[in-house]
Formats: sequence, structure tokens, C-alpha cells
Amino acid sequence: MGGKPIKGNSRRRLKLFLTLTPLLLAVACSDETLSLFFDIPAPTAAEQAAAEREQAAAEAKAKAIAEKKAGGPNLTAAEAAAKKAEEEAERPAIESVKSWEEAEKLLPKDQDDGVDWVAALRKGVVKPRAAIDGPGNPQANIFKWDFYFPGPEPEEDAYFPHSTHTEWVGCESCHPRIFRNREITVVMDRIFEGEYCGVCHGTVAFPLESCARCHTAQAE
Ligand code: HEC
Ligand code: HEC
Ligand code: HEC
Repeated sequence: MGGKPIKGNSRRRLKLFLTLTPLLLAVACSDETLSLFFDIPAPTAAEQAAAEREQAAAEAKAKAIAEKKAGGPNLTAAEAAAKKAEEEAERPAIESVKSWEEAEKLLPKDQDDGVDWVAALRKGVVKPRAAIDGPGNPQANIFKWDFYFPGPEPEEDAYFPHSTHTEWVGCESCHPRIFRNREITVVMDRIFEGEYCGVCHGTVAFPLESCARCHTAQAE
């Protein structure tokens, strides 16, 4: 079906209508008729809710289009919900324990009997979320440049795995605040005073007493 294309004759009529209508309106509209036309009553709650739903739907659509353009996930709401449920079902056992004692039993230990969080991550005992909500790629930032800081003696060399660190913290946690450039001289005294590695080790990462985890030559 569908409307007929506008032919020459009807197009002229349309033009006439379009020019005349505003003129007629201008003439005919007294204040009273104006208010009849334009004094629209406030929308009802239902109308308002419908308008809000429409607005939300439009925003969601715009977001989906933007995501698609950015090569993003572009999942339907149902797909996203299913994916989230699947991710939740795969949460490790340690997330259901109720005490640190129970949690500790599940965690791998290092040679000093401290928790080896790196091993825990590798073995999937812990699965940090990349974001509180939604997807996110925890592997996104892995930077594979692992090296040793040379020590005064070879057995005092200190292992610094960039890769491990970037699994836990962002580049900006260290650069440029803690490690500005290669000219820095890292010495143990400064570390014990809470500088360099000591900003985190002993506070949020394994303690400085676990010498052999950095000075790997000293591991039995
Ligand atoms: C978080 C990693 C880390 C831990 C843990 C650590 N060190 Fe160090 N240590 C370093 C770094 C980095 C250097 C500086 C580069 C180097 O000399 O190897 C260093 C240097 C040293 C040096 C060389 C001389 C000096 O003072 O700089 C000695 C000796 C040393 N550490 C002993 C220890 C002892 C003993 C422990 C345990 C009580 C320990 N370290 C724990 C990272 C660590
Ligand atoms: C836990 C701390 C830490 C994190 C996180 C970290 N780095 Fe580093 N980075 C270092 C240390 C230590 C050095 C060696 C000392 C230096 O060069 O300042 C270094 C050196 C570098 C260098 C060589 C700099 C130079 O002067 O030659 C680059 C490039 C670099 N990091 C990039 C990155 C990037 C990219 C990330 C994030 C993906 C990152 N780093 C995350 C600690 C870190
Ligand atoms: C911004 C915080 C931060 C700084 C600074 C930092 N670390 Fe770490 N480091 C961590 C975290 C977090 C982990 C993983 C959790 C844990 O093992 O406790 C880690 C783990 C490690 C590991 C274990 C790697 C493995 O594969 O088992 C070593 C070795 C290490 N750090 C050495 C160093 C040295 C050497 C320095 C200084 C040059 C340093 N770190 C500076 C946060 C930091």
C-alpha cells in the first residue's frame, strides 16, 4: 500500500495550504482560541513515565551504537545479563568463606609462609574483578618487561617482574611518582624507609621480611 507520490497538481495545493494555514491562524487566533490551542495541561503521571521510558530507551540505543562504533561488546540486555550470571557462577570458592582463617587455608603460601598472592591469582584461587560492574579486561595492561636490579653482589640482585605488577596495579601507580627514570638508585635502606618497593611491600603487598621473593638467588 503506502501513499501515492505527490504529483505536480497536489504539490501546488500543498504549497498553498502551507502558506495559508499560518496566515489563517494568525488572523483567527484571539487570546481565547490561543489558550485553547496552547494552554496544554500538565502531563499525567502515566504520560510522564512513558516519556521517561522513551528517553531512557533512546539513551540506551545511543549508548549501544557508540559501543558498537568503539568495537565494544554490543550485547543485548539479555545477553549481558546472561554473561553476568555466568561470571557470577564462576566466582572462586574463597569468595564464600566467612572468616580470614578459612580464607587463609585456601591460599597458597610463599617460602616464608606468607600468602603468595601472585600464585593465588595464577591458580585462580582469587579472581579480582576488573571493574565493580560490567566487563573489563584484567589482562589488558600486562607489560612484559621483567628484569633484575643489579645488586652490589650477584646474589643481592633484586627481581622486578613488571608483568606481575601490571596484573595488580596500573602503570600510574608507579610512574612517574615512585619510579621516574632509570637514574634512580634503589637501596635497601630507602626501601625499609618506605620508598621505592617499600611503598607497597610491607603495606599492600608481601612484606619486606620475605627477602628471597625479591632476592631470588637466596631462595632455597
Ligand atoms: C620488595 C623487594 C625486596 C625485598 C622484599 C627485599 N629487598 Fe633487598 N633490595 C631490593 C632492591 C630493589 C634492591 C636494590 C637493588 C639491589 O641492590 O639489588 C635491594 C638491595 C638489597 C641489598 C644490596 C645493598 C643495599 O643495601 O642496597 C641487600 C644486602 C638487600 N637488599 C638485602 C635484603 C634483605 C636482607 C631483605 C629481607 C630482610 C631484603 N633485601 C628484602 C628489593 C627487595
Ligand atoms: C610496581 C611498579 C611499576 C608498575 C606498576 C609499572 N612499572 Fe614500569 N618501571 C618500574 C620500575 C621499578 C622500573 C625501572 C626503574 C626505572 O626505570 O624507573 C620501570 C621502568 C619502566 C620503563 C623504562 C623506563 C626507562 O627509564 O627506561 C618503562 C618504559 C616502563 N617502566 C613502562 C611501564 C608501563 C607501560 C607500565 C604499565 C603497563 C609500567 N611500567 C608499570 C616499576 C613499575
Ligand atoms: C605500587 C605498588 C608496588 C610497588 C611500588 C612494588 N610492588 Fe612488587 N608487588 C606489588 C603487588 C600488589 C604484588 C602482588 C601481590 C603480592 O605478591 O603481595 C607484587 C609482587 C611482587 C613480586 C612477586 C612476583 C611473583 O611473580 O611472585 C616481586 C618479586 C616484587 N613484587 C618485587 C618488587 C620490587 C623489587 C619492587 C621495587 C623495585 C616492587 N616490587 C615494587 C606491588 C608493588
